[in-house]
Amino acid sequence: MYMENNITFTMIKPDAMENGHAGEILSIIIKSGFYISALKLVSLSKKQAKIFYNIHRTKPFFDELVEFMTRCPIIVAVLKKKNAVEDFRQLIGSTNPDEAKNGTIRKLFASSMGENSIHGSDSNENARVESSFFFAGSEIF
Ligand code: CMP
Repeated sequence: MYMENNITFTMIKPDAMENGHAGEILSIIIKSGFYISALKLVSLSKKQAKIFYNIHRTKPFFDELVEFMTRCPIIVAVLKKKNAVEDFRQLIGSTNPDEAKNGTIRKLFASSMGENSIHGSDSNENARVESSFFFAGSEIF
């Protein structure tokens, strides 16, 4: 379906949706050379959020994270580019916006570690797992 290091998965999180930043964020992503392979608006259920973030289930911020991610509909998307995972993580910046470099999406739009505007997969394997959590193979172009 797609080459090994060619895709990443992203979510435009509730803070960015509520603050009206979704359009600008998508524009930055596209101008940075990412092709949108799949995209939709979804309202995560608590159950879905808990499964998606299962790796963080023992962390002190887990309940807060689930509440946050289910607060309003979000945009989920699969992005294609050579070296997608790495390049997208550079584009979004550090998890903590205080530590994010100037010009990164989190520096521009995120307000805190928890409400950090955008998600990007941290590995090629997670990019595939996360993409298939939301999209059927036939929906990824
Ligand atoms: P992300 O890296 O996309 O996926 C895990 C999320 O957990 C992370 O973004 C933050 O939204 C959240 N998170 C990570 N660390 C903390 C923290 N210390 N406090 C609150 N939320 C956090």
